[in-house]
Amino acid sequence: MEQSLVLIKPDGVARRYIGDIIGRFEKRGLTIIQLEMMTLSREKAEVHYGEHVGKPFYSPLIDFITSGPLVAMVITGDRAISIVRSMCGTTDAGSAAPGTIRGDLSIYNNRNVIHSSDSVESAQREIGIFFG
Ligand code: CMP
Repeated sequence: MEQSLVLIKPDGVARRYIGDIIGRFEKRGLTIIQLEMMTLSREKAEVHYGEHVGKPFYSPLIDFITSGPLVAMVITGDRAISIVRSMCGTTDAGSAAPGTIRGDLSIYNNRNVIHSSDSVESAQREIGIFFG
């Protein structure tokens, strides 16, 4: 069984989408095994998004992800990583397919409501940051 680290980002929490998003994963048959609401420190945010250092959107991304409470969770299930990614939709919510979380709930590239791990290795690393 795979595990994925999922974040409902500060925009998703502020817009009261926690229940909607969790409901989608549960209805699909995935299982939430860890869950915590927290406001991320800049230090943890910089570790989590370390691969994006130097990109033009890096600094605004760190500001945004630390700007208010988020919900971090570990979701498990058979092929959970790719299933969760497909449910989230493409990073640029403005291009994301309707029916996906981003395609239904955002139109932005940066305030795109949700993050999910993109590989088994990323998931292990990210779960360690949030729940280690
Ligand atoms: P996420 O899945 O959390 O992973 C990295 C984040 O960087 C991504 O979602 C977006 O929030 C943000 N991001 C990626 N590309 C861009 C971009 N071109 N412009 C602004 N933000 C971006």
